[in-house]
Amino acid sequence: MSQTWWRGAAIYQVYLRSFADGNGDGVGDLAGLRSRLPYLKDLGVDAIWLNPWYPSPMADGGYDVADYRDIEPVFGSLAEAETFIAEAHELDIKVIVDVVPNHSSTASAWFQEALADPKARQRFWFRDEPNDWQSIFGGPAWTQVADGQWYLHLFAPEQPDFNWDNPEVHQEFEDVLRFWFDRGVDGVRIDSAALLFKSDSRYEDLDEVHDVYRRWRQVAEEYAERVLIGELWLPDQERFALYLRQDELHTAFNFDFLSCPWDPAELRRVIDLTLTTHAPVGAPPTWVLSNHDVTRPVTRYGRADTSFAHGGALHGTPSDSELGYRRARAAALLAMALPGGLYVYQGEELGLPEVEDLPDELRQDPMYARSGGSNPGRDGCRVPLPWSGEEPPFGFGGTRPWLPQPESWRKLTAEAQLADLDSMLNLYRTGLRLRRDRLGDGTLTWLPYGQNVLAFTRDSGLTCVTNLGSGPVRLPAGEILLASGTLDDGALPPDTTVWLASAG
Ligand code: NOJ
Repeated sequence: MSQTWWRGAAIYQVYLRSFADGNGDGVGDLAGLRSRLPYLKDLGVDAIWLNPWYPSPMADGGYDVADYRDIEPVFGSLAEAETFIAEAHELDIKVIVDVVPNHSSTASAWFQEALADPKARQRFWFRDEPNDWQSIFGGPAWTQVADGQWYLHLFAPEQPDFNWDNPEVHQEFEDVLRFWFDRGVDGVRIDSAALLFKSDSRYEDLDEVHDVYRRWRQVAEEYAERVLIGELWLPDQERFALYLRQDELHTAFNFDFLSCPWDPAELRRVIDLTLTTHAPVGAPPTWVLSNHDVTRPVTRYGRADTSFAHGGALHGTPSDSELGYRRARAAALLAMALPGGLYVYQGEELGLPEVEDLPDELRQDPMYARSGGSNPGRDGCRVPLPWSGEEPPFGFGGTRPWLPQPESWRKLTAEAQLADLDSMLNLYRTGLRLRRDRLGDGTLTWLPYGQNVLAFTRDSGLTCVTNLGSGPVRLPAGEILLASGTLDDGALPPDTTVWLASAG
């Protein structure tokens, strides 16, 4: 691959705890992931992004990192991580790890030192008096320690925020980047990337953060072909684009697309805005339908309100599963055809729905407890994958996965779907294969097609047409390469996407 492999890459997100369990303890691990690398190769992805795999008390699924230079023993060991990186590379799959620079874990050596010695608190945000900030997970953003001081945690109390006004914190993270780049990791996904600096009144998107990413870019450029990917939930696209300037991050997740309702005008607006935001800075857009923090698309697209918003307000609202499934297929081909990078969250390729009826006592997401139960949290999109067989644990490994899988997933196992040419899995496999040759990085040209249809042609001549209206639409001329649903006597039915090769 070229220096810029990431510009058009299809990146598969592995939520390790729920991917595959190699040692049978009910929790996914590196052994499980290694055993499933051939599956990912056959799926046709270019890279894997793993959620945090570091030692962690798991107060926030591993986003409470106790040691940035090791592997959580439940997942494996550092030696095994190195083996995994080598095995992925042998299959020509890149590896991206998650770096969490905004906050640490109360179990980290630095925080333990800070607790023991008030003079060792300058790496975090300790104050004599808290302000009125609320945690993003609910409840106050400050917790008091035994001697009376308070520390800041924008997320759970187990996740103390670092003080980025302290040069030692900068040095630490540059070392952490080198630690993983030295081990062959091809990129980092930067958690909560806009939150690092705080003023007295604000904690989001302060200008100082850009100097950090300029330094990180220099670190990345000490190596070949390394990519920095930002997790930036910013309402202002101009501010968002600043992070993607040539000397900062290479790329960032497109959350406007992820949150967008299944509506032709809104989708067109978001796609155009994405393209015009990225073009001036020369960064490739990305297309994301889901991740470990949001409602599964199959469920979301079947609801009356198809947008996504944090807070869980739509949890449990009725969802038409057939409609949601059809739209999720159409959305997948649309996302794959757009110019830039693509993210696929594990289970998306299986069309898994959100599990909305998990027993409350099994919910682990701190959002659930900290909201007093009003927000069910994100466990419903983190249920362990169904691989094979007729009953739980569906080949996940062990006998009792850390979250229970619905019995109905017997129809959704990878094994069952491989045997069905029309399955979601086979749609992803074929789509990703075609995408590799004909799509990815580049530009698009919109085709005039009426207000309920999104139609565009890519540089390679591939045309993508998505019908978001209520009746069938005629197809343009061309050879049909792939369709998300059955065509209706040569016309494109509602909630369906087709790819065509230009005629002539
Ligand atoms: C964003 C991550 O995606 C999410 O899972 C986590 O809870 C927060 N950042 C805090 O690290």
